[in-house]
Amino acid sequence: MYEGKPWSRVALIREAFHYQSRFEGSTMVFKINFPVTEDPAFPYLVKDLALLAQTGFRVVIVPGAKEWIDSVLNEYGIVSSYTSSGRITTATAIPFVEMAAFHVAARFMTGLAGSRVDAVIGNFVRARGMGVIEGTDMEHTGAVDKILTDSLTRALDQGMVPILPCIGYSPAGKPYNVPSDEIALAAAAALGAVKLFFVSLDGALRADAYWLPQGIELGEDGRVVRLTPAEAEAVLRSNPAEQTGPAGSGSPACPAGDRRPGRSLEELALALKASRSGVERVHLVNGREDGAILKELFSNMGSGTMLYSDEYESIRALRSRDIPVILRLMDPLVRQGILIKRSAEQILEKKEDFAVFEIDGSIHACGALHEWGEDQGEIAAIATDPLYADMGMGRRIVGYLIDRARKKGLSRVFVLTTHTQDWFEFLGFRELNVESLPEKRRKLYNRSRRSKVFALDL
Ligand SMILES: CC(C)(COP(=O)(O)OP(=O)(O)OC[C@H]1O[C@@H](n2cnc3c(N)ncnc32)[C@H](O)[C@@H]1OP(=O)(O)O)[C@@H](O)C(=O)NCCC(=O)NCCS
Repeated sequence: MYEGKPWSRVALIREAFHYQSRFEGSTMVFKINFPVTEDPAFPYLVKDLALLAQTGFRVVIVPGAKEWIDSVLNEYGIVSSYTSSGRITTATAIPFVEMAAFHVAARFMTGLAGSRVDAVIGNFVRARGMGVIEGTDMEHTGAVDKILTDSLTRALDQGMVPILPCIGYSPAGKPYNVPSDEIALAAAAALGAVKLFFVSLDGALRADAYWLPQGIELGEDGRVVRLTPAEAEAVLRSNPAEQTGPAGSGSPACPAGDRRPGRSLEELALALKASRSGVERVHLVNGREDGAILKELFSNMGSGTMLYSDEYESIRALRSRDIPVILRLMDPLVRQGILIKRSAEQILEKKEDFAVFEIDGSIHACGALHEWGEDQGEIAAIATDPLYADMGMGRRIVGYLIDRARKKGLSRVFVLTTHTQDWFEFLGFRELNVESLPEKRRKLYNRSRRSKVFALDL
């Protein structure tokens, strides 16, 4: 894409620096499926991970080992049976499962050592047994009880790359075989990772393999470049895992082609889960593709599929059915004289001006931007649910409204406040006199309320 033209190489370098400075020092979890470990491209992949660790990223590796475990058990003649809840790991099997899991982890260790990066394979996962499920004793098959973040953080602070094999231990030291997807998800959430990568042989979600809702961004190579959680949900709804052809109500982005089920959908479901637990960016990349992780990290178009939940995503326009909720949010503030009273009808009339902050489907803050002519807009009705105070929601909703004002081409936003001047000053607003208000607003200014005017020039 960048070959040959010096100016475009410069663009690539600039882009790489931009992402480098943005994510340096942040934690990234890489779940790498077993077949990738066996691929000829694997040594290059590990070198890229080493490069990331050397340049200041906090890299955590979760190797998948399922197929290798299967082949080891097979080799030793140990029957391995599965239920819908996963593999039943018998007391006979568990030592072999441990051996296989640590063998795969050691492959990463060896590769990193070759790049002079310190790595540590550790017991970072506390596990509990799955017990008896629908009459079947799962024996040594376990689930994540807790990620031991203190130990992991210590290792990361020392510049090491922790490797988490698919084995966890109970507090009494009993080993359990824990699905590595689950470990990756739990580790990313527990460490507050900014990114979680699923590296497999499937990689990106391909437009010719699935039904996609309209409007999804596709790369020139026919890959889904990025998705919001809502879009990911729509893809999962329209492509039931077991089916191979088009289905559901979604319209195909690419009507014909080789549609096939794959690990990508499974990974998309996991990505959605990770995003719901707070991981802002989850990437599906192909471990066979040279430099796939670096391209995905350091360029806008990437090389895989990214599921992202940016910070504005949870701020959206007001819908009529939200009005009772925001009236309830504002009511105590109205009673304290902090906000002026508004009726449902008044809000409905100005519905387009309002925005709400939604977390997990429920509204916890609101605000509005009213235009008064003379290129000025009023930020008003800012209210945060007290249970969610000091979480940055007030700041973000004001930021969102300022952005909206900029997009509308306004040159100033102002606020009339009786109680909250310090906060607006902290946000960069400065006090002006009432005369600076646009004429229409000045005429409505309630002198008995004696609100102060704070403004921000855009
Ligand atoms: C002001 C308000 C919107 C802040 O919401 P929030 O989501 O808690 O705000 P943020 O998390 O973005 O910011 C919190 C910071 O602001 C500070 N802060 C909150 N209210 C403040 C106030 N009235 N004056 C000064 N600082 C204030 C907090 O102490 C906190 O500081 P810190 O992070 O440095 O410790 C919220 O307190 C509120 O709903 N107030 C009543 C309504 C109101 O005054 N609206 C404005 C008039 S339109």
